[in-house]
Amino acid sequence: MIDHQLLKLVHLSCVVLSITGFTIRATLMLARSPLLRRRWVRTVPHLVDSLLFFSGLGLAYNLHQYPGTTPWLTAKLVALVLYVIFGAIALRGRRLPQRLTALVLAYTTFAYMVSVALSKNPMPWH
Ligand code: HEM
Repeated sequence: MIDHQLLKLVHLSCVVLSITGFTIRATLMLARSPLLRRRWVRTVPHLVDSLLFFSGLGLAYNLHQYPGTTPWLTAKLVALVLYVIFGAIALRGRRLPQRLTALVLAYTTFAYMVSVALSKNPMPWH
């Protein structure tokens, strides 16, 4: 078992890196910057999001709580997939209104994941 606190530090660092990186890319998108097409600008976020996912799975394993059986973890996993999809549409969508809608949805999904994580409740507003 990997040390839980260390894994949590990796997980939380990826959370911060993921949303910071997304915000930088969203700014580049709005500024129509060619930087957005650089290979490393496109690949590094995949590495961060994969590490976010695997560190989350490691934490779940340590807690003996799993997506599919523990509702707040199922909610986080589904929301992570939606965040990645909305994020991709926000950065690569065809038209600006579509990109802006996806941008708002990506941030909303991210905020939802943070509140699910802190409350350990798939419906944190309850
Ligand atoms: C962008 C996606 C994610 C965000 C923003 C996020 C955010 C967080 C935050 C803020 C915490 C700390 C909660 C606390 O202080 O108690 C946390 C913990 C945790 N996360 Fe995530 N997470 C994400 C994805 C995932 C995924 C995909 C999984 C697993 C499938 C996962 C599993 C866990 C587990 C098990 C903990 C609890 C650790 C503990 O209480 O010791 N996370 N997450």
